[in-house]
Amino acid sequence: MTDTNSPLVDLSGRRVLVTGASAGIGRATAVLAARLGARVTLNGRDATRLAETLALLAGEGHRTAAFDLSDTDAIPAWVKAQAESGGPFDGVAHCAGVQVGKPVRSVDRAFFDQILHANLLSALALARGFRQKGCHAESGAMVLVSSVAAEIGQPGNVVYSAAKGGLVSATRGLAMEFLRDGIRVNCVAPAMVETEMMERFRQTTTAEQFDAIRAAHPMGFGKPEDVASAIAYLLSDASRWINGVMLPVDGGYLAK
Ligand SMILES: NC(=O)c1ccc[n+]([C@@H]2O[C@H](COP(=O)([O-])OP(=O)(O)OC[C@H]3O[C@@H](n4cnc5c(N)ncnc54)[C@H](OP(=O)(O)O)[C@@H]3O)[C@@H](O)[C@H]2O)c1
Repeated sequence: MTDTNSPLVDLSGRRVLVTGASAGIGRATAVLAARLGARVTLNGRDATRLAETLALLAGEGHRTAAFDLSDTDAIPAWVKAQAESGGPFDGVAHCAGVQVGKPVRSVDRAFFDQILHANLLSALALARGFRQKGCHAESGAMVLVSSVAAEIGQPGNVVYSAAKGGLVSATRGLAMEFLRDGIRVNCVAPAMVETEMMERFRQTTTAEQFDAIRAAHPMGFGKPEDVASAIAYLLSDASRWINGVMLPVDGGYLAK
């Protein structure tokens, strides 16, 4: 029988925490979530750039919450404080992340910890924070941002790939562990997206290398808004029967 109540992508009345909201994919996600009706809490480290994002948001009830997510042990209490002051969250979009390339011969413990903390342990700590009593609505959704780097071999990017691969596995595990809490957990895996992160990466390559990377993208590089759309869908009830998946948002990059 047809369900005439099939939900659309709508975040009206929802409260959403967006990390990495001072730039790139996180900023685009915050802008779209607000357009779709959400009250958005914007996280990043740079308060000035968070204020710039805040000025872009439609609607009311948004706020900034600057905090360094590399302090992973402090994340659950920070999420609790946000919920106590603004109400429980319906959704969390974890867009903050760090990419630094390094060949394995140069990888040491400090580098491993930096990349794993910023990309993977931050996600687990946010999930722990979101799950706490009073921090999430009756049905919640969490979206993590992995990468196609989780799925393919890339020289000089092994630690970042491992962190992003860990996010895909963590997505599945969290989705199962949080079932009884009413929280769905999914992740998106973008290919190259035109953000500051891409610009920093470009500085580490020759023009020829960068052209080859562009050529490997069947539909060209993505825009932050392309990823934001997928994240908004996974946050919304339109994806209410989707749980524990990794959604490539890559213009066909992994299909070729
Ligand atoms: N761009 C791509 O090609 C691409 C491809 C695949 C996956 N991704 C993933 O997509 C996500 C967003 O990437 P992007 O391209 O939008 O990156 P970006 O332009 O470099 O922005 C990164 C964001 O993360 C925040 N951030 C970094 N470390 C943080 C920390 N310790 N605490 C709080 N916030 C922190 C930054 O905020 P502050 O500077 O204010 O701290 C900034 O808002 C990342 O997880 C990245 O790995 C990107």
